Amino acid sequence: CGIVGVTGREDSIEILVSGLEKLEYRGYDSAGIYVTNRKGQDHLVKTQGKIIDLKHKLTPAIPGTTGIGHTRWATNGVPSIANAHPQFSSDNRFYLVHNGVIENFEELKSTYLKNVTFVSQTDTEVVVQLVDHFVTQENLTTKQAFEKTLGLLEGSSYAFLLMDRDDPETLYVAKNKSPLLIGLGEDFNVVCSDALAMLNVTKDFLELQDGEMVIVTPSSVEISDQNGNPVQREAFHVDLDPKEADRGAYPYYMLKEIDEQPAVLHRIQETYLENPAQPAIGADLLAAMKQADQIYIVGAGTSYHAGLVGKELFERLAQVPTQALVASEFAYADPMLSQHPFFIFLTQSGETADSRQVLVRVKEEWHAPSLTITNVENSTLYREATYQLLLKAGPEIAVASTKAYTAQIAVEAVVAKALGMAKQIANAKQFDLQHQLSLAANAIQAIVDDKEEIKQIAHDNLATTRNAFYIGRGVDYFVALEAALKLKEISYIQAEGFASGELKHGTIALIEDQTPVIALLTQKKTAGHTRSNIQEVQSRGARVLRIASQNLAKPGDEIVIPAISELLIPLISVVPAQLLAYYASLERGYNVDQPRNLAKSVTVE
Ligand code: G6P
Repeated sequence: CGIVGVTGREDSIEILVSGLEKLEYRGYDSAGIYVTNRKGQDHLVKTQGKIIDLKHKLTPAIPGTTGIGHTRWATNGVPSIANAHPQFSSDNRFYLVHNGVIENFEELKSTYLKNVTFVSQTDTEVVVQLVDHFVTQENLTTKQAFEKTLGLLEGSSYAFLLMDRDDPETLYVAKNKSPLLIGLGEDFNVVCSDALAMLNVTKDFLELQDGEMVIVTPSSVEISDQNGNPVQREAFHVDLDPKEADRGAYPYYMLKEIDEQPAVLHRIQETYLENPAQPAIGADLLAAMKQADQIYIVGAGTSYHAGLVGKELFERLAQVPTQALVASEFAYADPMLSQHPFFIFLTQSGETADSRQVLVRVKEEWHAPSLTITNVENSTLYREATYQLLLKAGPEIAVASTKAYTAQIAVEAVVAKALGMAKQIANAKQFDLQHQLSLAANAIQAIVDDKEEIKQIAHDNLATTRNAFYIGRGVDYFVALEAALKLKEISYIQAEGFASGELKHGTIALIEDQTPVIALLTQKKTAGHTRSNIQEVQSRGARVLRIASQNLAKPGDEIVIPAISELLIPLISVVPAQLLAYYASLERGYNVDQPRNLAKSVTVE
């Protein structure tokens, strides 16, 4: 979910709505805002659906100088107007938006709120009713009631913005595990889940730590820690052009982001490879990594898939045994760690709760060094890891990740090369990363310039199919997993990535007449074997498409991509798959950027 708040601006509604639009990537199944003004008027508007629907409901414009807003990705309770935020107390005095999950809400409800009639199924309503309960039943001030309520939510995750109708210029703010920033203005202040939401009004932000509570008015920001002690904090400046997050002339962000990939690779070269022989990742990080006897790469979704490719890079270029791990699984596993483990967190947003949960264990339980590779400076995982590197990919807005995946692979290659050089590994010395990234950027440019061809292939093969398979071996298998994820996320085709040699051990039973099977053929050692697997599925009626690198291509291969280092070829072999998914989604009439049931940044476990 995404939340926003503003106090002290006549145009607060516009600020809230445009902020929510920027946060829609965090969820878009329902939305709402609550505003008050200095004349004591207030207004609540909620909708089931997207911010555009909320906008329609806002006319004629309602007045407001202070307000809160929310765009939801449902956890507790189906998407509906009743379950949309802001949630409010029965006496219509308190209004609350929330991102997170309250673990013990049922218990709190039965302990304190037996006589309250609830209008939603959300955990959030319990919290706002509790505040009201403590104010009315125990005569506490709003601040005291809020503090008391927070104290009862142990273990829960939340970013809260609370308003009291009787105190219409104040925002009561609290954060635990879910991201939240305070944005600073002159005679006004704002609050948001992500700085992107408020770049139009400020570029100066204060980060909040878990357990902190903040009272925000137009002229003041008072932070206090868990024990109520005041906290002083320096603001940081976000140096991002709000235009970077604009779609421009593109119909969808996803297409823009696919097209940006060559530029992203160039930016990574400029950032880290000024000296191509010695990538600049920081002496301390390098020293810490040299101690590692094992690297653990942790990620979720697409980032996990980039981690699989990273395993190859670290093992071949730096000769460190490496594992790629699914964050939500590893978070509660009992691993037999090596003696000197080093953890790498791959996360576009820097906020994924599953990955963060692993980082908490790395710090508190395993006391091991960690590196976060992320696209978002000052995000939670960025701040909490020992070391950090940025992807430099520019804001990624489409829910289906594209340029962050290729950027993650490129930055992993930078780190692996740096480590290999520091360890004097011959493979690293011979690997001309600078040159390979240039080749990759050119190759991606050629593929995106020719996208009409891929559009046609999607039209011919993916417009109506029920299912589809990507197959490959080794690195091609890793890309097959990512390619299949893209397809299922946005076209809703049941797509799976398989190790092509495994097909015959079971999965081949799913092949029917005309089932699309897309094979990746970029690895010399295994391409021949994969071609045999292609024969096997073809004999059973599959409709086969081949994505082959030039040096391994055969006449009739449908998509031929330039040949670069086999280690880095995922950077380019994934691009036709991204485009196939994009055009399949369009063919089938879906909203490419906002697929059903998903959110880009998932801050609950
Ligand atoms: C969500 C998104 C995925 C993304 C995953 C990890 O599930 O829908 O596209 O890959 O989170 O996100 P992260 O920000 O940690 O890379």
